[in-house]
Amino acid sequence: MDKNFALEFVRVTEASAISAARLMGRGSERDADRAAVEAMRRAFDRIDFHGVVKIGEGERDQAPMLFIGEEVGNQRGPRLDIAVDPLEGTTITAKGGPNALSVIAVAEENNFLHAPDVYMDKIAVGREAAGKIDLDASVSCNLSQIAKAKKCSIGDLTVVILDRPRHAELIEDVRAAGARIWMIDDGDVQAAIACALPDTGVDVLMGMGGAPEGVIAAAAMKCLDGDFQGRLLFKDERERKRAMSMGIQDLDKCYMRDDLAQGNVMFCATGVTKGSMLDGVRFSCGKARTHSMVMRSETKTLRFIDAYHELTSKPGFVHSAV
Ligand code: FBP
Repeated sequence: MDKNFALEFVRVTEASAISAARLMGRGSERDADRAAVEAMRRAFDRIDFHGVVKIGEGERDQAPMLFIGEEVGNQRGPRLDIAVDPLEGTTITAKGGPNALSVIAVAEENNFLHAPDVYMDKIAVGREAAGKIDLDASVSCNLSQIAKAKKCSIGDLTVVILDRPRHAELIEDVRAAGARIWMIDDGDVQAAIACALPDTGVDVLMGMGGAPEGVIAAAAMKCLDGDFQGRLLFKDERERKRAMSMGIQDLDKCYMRDDLAQGNVMFCATGVTKGSMLDGVRFSCGKARTHSMVMRSETKTLRFIDAYHELTSKPGFVHSAV
């Protein structure tokens, strides 16, 4: 994959982030998401590549665009797989809360797990504890391995967990082991990445979130040399059958980071709302300022890009409802 693609794809997340950010705090998750999706879809077609959406907005019959299997790009370049979350944090954006992102991961053809839209049990850590985690081990065993790898005590560790009733037992286990907890309302892709960046104050992500977000997070963790494991969770027979029809053979498999995102991958994210890792979009006098991260697994370079956009010279860049 040409390294310059990473800088092309960040234009896509910039466009979707700007469009969604215009609707920050307006109370409509649906409108913010739609603005991001439409802007992302348009921006893809300005890039010379032949992309296929592997992780997207849903099935063809449910999602009007960026559905699984949709072809994007202007069909003139290499064939690439795309995993997108045009707005990771729809509720966050609708409420004007922190840490909503627009994200894309890119791989060569057939390198992302074709994950159904079910939950995934996840664990993610940064570089120091890579190779030391085990989704099948107990919470206390994982925390003790992570603490050992980070040369600290369990009491120094902070575990990020989505604030959901389904995590009551996990929270009890983390407390019993003696670690601290950072509860988040939404956005476990951002939370996983934060575990692999220095000085974010979080060490490990644990718990159940969306499987598509799991594949995207695994791609990001690969670029950061962090670690990720996930297992698909099915609530009924319909979900199991659906997964099998998508080619998942072993429904109980614990996926390692590289099972979810194989080969060389790229990852781009642009902040929609202000967050601990990326600033949100700021508007003033016809301009938008965006803050993005761009990474490649091949070199592990992480770039932060601070960009000013003159919106009047970018017709079609921002959602028409704005
Ligand atoms: P959306 O942006 O689609 O609302 O997803 C946000 C999110 O918090 C993800 O980061 C996470 O993986 C998933 O939702 C958790 O799902 P649920 O809200 O059903 O617990």
